[in-house]
Amino acid sequence: MQTYTLNNGVKIPVIGFGTWETPNDTSGVDAILYAITQAGYTHIDTAAAYRNEESVGKAIRESGISRDKFFVTSKLWNTKRGYDNTMRAFDRTLQNLQMDYLDLYLIHWPAIETQFPDTWKQINLDTWRAMEKLYKDGRIRAIGVSNFMPHHLQPLLDACEVVPAVNQIEVHPGYQQVEAVKFCKEKGIQVEAWSPLGRGDALTDQTIMDIAARLGRTPAQVCLRWVLDKGLLPLVKSVTPSRILQNIDVFNFSLSPEDTAVIDALTDCGGMCLHPDKVKF
Ligand code: A2P
Repeated sequence: MQTYTLNNGVKIPVIGFGTWETPNDTSGVDAILYAITQAGYTHIDTAAAYRNEESVGKAIRESGISRDKFFVTSKLWNTKRGYDNTMRAFDRTLQNLQMDYLDLYLIHWPAIETQFPDTWKQINLDTWRAMEKLYKDGRIRAIGVSNFMPHHLQPLLDACEVVPAVNQIEVHPGYQQVEAVKFCKEKGIQVEAWSPLGRGDALTDQTIMDIAARLGRTPAQVCLRWVLDKGLLPLVKSVTPSRILQNIDVFNFSLSPEDTAVIDALTDCGGMCLHPDKVKF
């Protein structure tokens, strides 16, 4: 698996196995184990809010492959913001995973002005201070954020000691987030794309289906190639063996500049299209 190099020198595999909605039971463990042992994924993305950290840890242990061959990400949930809460939540995450370090820990969503009119910046900063402490203590190899738009990131950048290594945001052909991606690139922050298939919606878009048919590829492979070609890191979720295999088989074809331009011009082909300032959680 190819890697990107984060702003602190840590290498991260360019595709991650997403686990949002992967069940925290044997079927979930089996799907993750299949992804590791049959398809070769080493980068697994989970979150406290997914409630499946136990299954991620179990699958990694059951694979028999040593921990240091994996890149494991988890995320701090919104109810655990603030310095002390973050410290406790991190310990809980490690307990769930039964691991003694994380490769990447992210603030799942920014505190926002509509929910915390006077304190949102300070809450994000207090949370970040805990992330920095955990990072400096060597308990996490890299720290970052998720669902931060430039106006959430800038106050953090103005005050942080450690620049976030990653921003994980929703990106797919139906929600391209051009401004946020540009901002992160300028600041040396690696963008990860959640829901790179637009929750599956992009796969029935006629334009994407036509390009896939012409190239002898699947619509999912076209979406993932398009994300990779932008220098972004797709986190692709599936519990279906054939799809798990297909989604990592994207390194032996390319999209022409013309096909890329056609996908770039798509505006609405589904996905959640969530804006962090509008969420209720
Ligand atoms: P499943 O897990 O049942 O295989 P996204 O990552 O954009 O949120 O999309 C995830 C959704 O897309 C899941 O419902 C997943 O279904 C489905 N999916 C994942 N890979 C493929 C694929 N290669 N072809 C079709 N659907 C896919």
